[in-house]
Amino acid sequence: MSTYSYADCLKNSYRVNWKISDVIGERHFDTARSWLPSRLSGAARVTSLTPDEKMTLNHVEMGAYAHLFGFVEEFIAPRMVGLARDFALDDREAFDALTNFAAEEVKHMNLFKQIRDRIDGKMGFPLELLGGQQETARFVLSKSRGAVLLLTACIEWFTQRHYLECFEGAEDLLRAREAMTLAGVLDLADQSVDALAGGERQRALLARALAQEPRTLLLDEPTSHLDLRHQRHLIGLLRRLNRERGMTVVFVTHDLNLAGELADRLLLLSGGRVIRLGTPAEVLDETVLERAYGCPVWVERLGAGGRPVVLGARL
Ligand SMILES: [Fe+2]
Repeated sequence: MSTYSYADCLKNSYRVNWKISDVIGERHFDTARSWLPSRLSGAARVTSLTPDEKMTLNHVEMGAYAHLFGFVEEFIAPRMVGLARDFALDDREAFDALTNFAAEEVKHMNLFKQIRDRIDGKMGFPLELLGGQQETARFVLSKSRGAVLLLTACIEWFTQRHYLECFEGAEDLLRAREAMTLAGVLDLADQSVDALAGGERQRALLARALAQEPRTLLLDEPTSHLDLRHQRHLIGLLRRLNRERGMTVVFVTHDLNLAGELADRLLLLSGGRVIRLGTPAEVLDETVLERAYGCPVWVERLGAGGRPVVLGARL
């Protein structure tokens, strides 16, 4: 079972430091497309509607989601500020975690406000489902602290329940288990991702990506936290995904030998400029590498194929 401390929560929250613009940016809502995934929307199941009407209902549902979430955020953030105040002098870790939580909730409030404004703009009328957002927040906040927290937890639970019911069919679970098996994390299935060590977490994230059955995998330093055995496993897995399933694997790494061993083509960058694009033999070349690193580099060729192996900088 996972346990959480204020310090852990704060650390995790800082790691996922996001901005509203990261989420919504310049995105706009295109009325020609669905705004909610079909499995989350009930619109397609209303057989009496025309395709155009189903699309409009899908848009209204998206507006309803944004509206309801905004409704809830209205009382969560003030409650967290109130809780934080109690710890202000006596428990700095708790105070930091709770004020940061409140700040996150304020971001949620502003995010949903922006989403709603954009949706309203596209629909041409305000999707005001229920009025009295502030009055509701005031009423909820007038209740005991425990009641407010319980209500908040219930809302989280039923939202997640709804989401899981929409997305977790038997086939999805099978796919998830297969992805976990491929990434070698099936034995960690019952653990929270927050509780995993660096290498385990890295493999879990790979499983998450594989469960979506992507055509292209984009990886950033894929072996950085892995021990030798898991590095071997990952290299073998990525090669199989590429050769047997036709998956394109693009990865960024500082590990020249990993790049040379795994990739068919390498792009060597230095200071944001392309130094060389080509096969491992063309890129992992002493002259090319010296240009990139500004020092002499020692490269040996291995075996009959002459695979280049970078031994390091020449002293
Ligand atoms: Fe929130």
